[in-house]
Amino acid sequence: MTTIEALPWGWADAAANMKIAKRSQFAIANASGGGRDVDPGGRSQGDSEDAAGSCTALGAGAATICRTVTRSAMTARASDEAVMAWDPALYLKFGDERLRPGFELLARIGELPPGPLYELGCGTGVHARAIATRWADRTFTAIDHSREMLTKAAAEPAPIQWVEADIARWSAPAPGALIFSNATLQWLGEHERLFPHLLRQLVRGGVLAVQMPRNFDQESHRLMRETATQGPWAERLAPVLGSATVLRPEPVMPPETYYDLLAPLTPHLDLWETEYLQVLTGEDAVLEWVRGTALRPVLDALAPSERAAFTASYGAKLRQAYPRRGDGKTLFPFRRLFLVARLG
Ligand SMILES: C[S@@+](CC[C@H](N)C(=O)[O-])C[C@H]1O[C@@H](n2cnc3c(N)ncnc32)[C@H](O)[C@@H]1O
Repeated sequence: MTTIEALPWGWADAAANMKIAKRSQFAIANASGGGRDVDPGGRSQGDSEDAAGSCTALGAGAATICRTVTRSAMTARASDEAVMAWDPALYLKFGDERLRPGFELLARIGELPPGPLYELGCGTGVHARAIATRWADRTFTAIDHSREMLTKAAAEPAPIQWVEADIARWSAPAPGALIFSNATLQWLGEHERLFPHLLRQLVRGGVLAVQMPRNFDQESHRLMRETATQGPWAERLAPVLGSATVLRPEPVMPPETYYDLLAPLTPHLDLWETEYLQVLTGEDAVLEWVRGTALRPVLDALAPSERAAFTASYGAKLRQAYPRRGDGKTLFPFRRLFLVARLG
């Protein structure tokens, strides 16, 4: 049986900033969808790009993903990037290393006050399932704009509302007890606006828990930018380097900047950094790692014929910067910033 609940979606900021004329009411379908498309009014419909708000059941017994984008929002997205295809299998190739920080973040979240839970950029949904298990009595919405990631996330039934949407201008439809985001907000700009805004989406005592990589000055990223600016593709890649937040030299600011932003709003701030010495296996391991994340916008912008040349050039530099050890493994140091803020 498919359960449909109305969800008033918080696009207030987007509407204000982007002059979205129509504010949509959307539907959310819980797990155990019945293999049909449903719009917010409960009518069956195709899952087309024109839909102003629709839910797609992934198959008998599987969960349902709801798309919550208005027509105007689809043509003028709040984030500065088009939705790029993610490859869940490639992303999870280094699943242990990528997911561990999210679990370490979760471990630092104590008791929560009453209220709904949200995850921003849920990806393949691994942390979402842990959150849903730990706070099983809550309404929990996990949001991502990648259809590929959400399809993987929702493949198994879970008491989670999966929502396909852009989080760049997200506001909570109802104040949250938890806003959790792992390895996602570095894709979004305007952190000076974003972080105080997210804190204000919480109930009193609610928690904003965020982890972001802070390794953008490392060789892996420096060499990516260098290769992008030096090859025959330089002109084509210039706009990508300028617009994709994650390719900038510093998409994530130093910890003290987040302290200065949030300390006036709450005294309950826990900020820390961890540098993991990641031990990767396989050929061209660092190249494979970035192919699953930051290299995607670069490769997307290149013609298929250029991609091989770009990865050959970049890969050679990476092999020098990160030589394989005697046992064939590759060490890839990776610094990450953690932040847990509780609204006082
Ligand atoms: C590096 S993955 C992290 C996924 C997951 N949190 C994890 O720890 O495995 C980043 C995720 O953020 C999502 N994302 C990036 N920008 C987004 C945006 N503007 N709106 C919604 N999702 C976004 C991507 O689709 C991707 O699934």
